[in-house]
Amino acid sequence: MMSIEYKCEEDEQKKKLRELTKSFCGIDKPLKNYVNHVESLNELIRELHVVFSSDYVNIERVNHLMMVYTSNYKDWKKFAKFDRYRYTRNLVDAGNDKFNLMILCWNEGQTSAIHDHADSHCFMKVLKGGLTEVKYLMPNQNNTQISHMEPNLPADIGIYHHPEEEHHNEEQLQEICRTTLYENQVCYINDNLGLHRVENVSNTDVAVSLHLYCPPFDACGIYNKATGKKTKCPVTFWSKFGKREKIPE
Ligand code: SIN
Repeated sequence: MMSIEYKCEEDEQKKKLRELTKSFCGIDKPLKNYVNHVESLNELIRELHVVFSSDYVNIERVNHLMMVYTSNYKDWKKFAKFDRYRYTRNLVDAGNDKFNLMILCWNEGQTSAIHDHADSHCFMKVLKGGLTEVKYLMPNQNNTQISHMEPNLPADIGIYHHPEEEHHNEEQLQEICRTTLYENQVCYINDNLGLHRVENVSNTDVAVSLHLYCPPFDACGIYNKATGKKTKCPVTFWSKFGKREKIPE
């Protein structure tokens, strides 16, 4: 059993990471004077564990490491599992419960719903193809009706599930920008910067991306574009460590 002392240290790191979402906006360029090349996905994972081993996580270094890894199909092919109907979330490393590193596979035209990141940091690197990120202003939380998704629904952030919607205090979500990222480009978002959805707009090519969330989360908010209504949505994995997860009955 995990000792109470150890658990407290962990909570402290998560708290500090969440506080950092209020000021961190991502870096544009790799850092100087830090590992300037990461040879493989395994090396990236090793370096990430080093960064997360201290109580105070240097989030710029996390961003930097995501930037300097160069996509190599051989590294990630065993995690790249596609589904005909929805994009897939495939866990690569559970980061000692301090971060989640995952590979997402997008068939032509597949998209995520507009979502938040549960007060965590989100880094996304394109490993193959192109992905369009559409960003929205976070709606006024006072206007936001929160409802909860039924448990046990298949859970990626791919569909906007609307239980009984109440149409008061509605406000359409405001788009801030849309950017298409290609192989090896990295973007960053947190709840302070807004909401987003990601789409493979190609009709002919699949796309693959690498995502790092810290702290990890197993539920987030998904939003109705027309009303701003938020629904809490559990998120699960299509596969973990290269193996298909059991489908809930
Ligand atoms: C996810 O983690 O499933 C969401 C992917 C995205 O950023 O759109």
